[in-house]
Amino acid sequence: MKSNENQMRSSGGKVQEFYTKRALSYESLYVKRLGWGRELDTFFSDSDYLQSSLKVLDAGCGTGVITRTLNKVALKKGYEDIEFHAFDLTQGMLDIFQMHIEEKEIKNVKLQQADVLKIESLPENWNDYDLIISSALLEYIPKEQISNALINLKKLLKNGGKMLIFITRRNFITNITGKLWWKTNLFKDDQFHRELQDVGFNKIQQRNLHSKWSKYIMVFEVIK
Ligand SMILES: C[S@@+](CC[C@H](N)C(=O)[O-])C[C@H]1O[C@@H](n2cnc3c(N)ncnc32)[C@H](O)[C@@H]1O
Repeated sequence: MKSNENQMRSSGGKVQEFYTKRALSYESLYVKRLGWGRELDTFFSDSDYLQSSLKVLDAGCGTGVITRTLNKVALKKGYEDIEFHAFDLTQGMLDIFQMHIEEKEIKNVKLQQADVLKIESLPENWNDYDLIISSALLEYIPKEQISNALINLKKLLKNGGKMLIFITRRNFITNITGKLWWKTNLFKDDQFHRELQDVGFNKIQQRNLHSKWSKYIMVFEVIK
């Protein structure tokens, strides 16, 4: 038991170290140059996940591309009073997000450093979410802990709330790129579908990204 705990601690520690060193390059390479930010903009502009007065959680927010995009789309569509909470394991990623919040004088986003496997460290009112987004987070959770991460996210969702999960699809290319970037956990569509069923989600649908990203990233929508 002890060695399992140590293993988990060290795996979280390694991820943190990895992203602390790469926070700036993640934002400039992945979000900007490779176009992850633009892809999300198209996806959320064309969808109807947002409406006024929602409470939204961005789990494993990194430098904040999900919340930043949702906030922009919400403003464009005239939705008001949306409250965003976002957490991440790596303070260095949150610092970049915080700089953006200050630069743009954004008032409706709160950040917190936290581990998806230890949600008890989140502030007391961080629960009962209408919408939770987890984007490129679960790849970094040890496989034997994925169900715990999903159970925790499910606890934070209100009854009838929606969760949207963006997760890397296992294929020939991602097997190679995953290993070059980080030894991420990769799933095929049916494997991840089963993970969701195993933690008690029964309203599960798959969505598609629009461009080349759809080959590499799966999008699952679940309702509690
Ligand atoms: C690939 S980045 C994704 C960031 C952002 N969601 C996006 O779509 O650009 C993965 C992020 O997951 C965070 N992360 C990894 N393990 C985590 C954990 N156990 N709890 C919370 N965040 C974690 C990392 O710190 C990193 O910022």
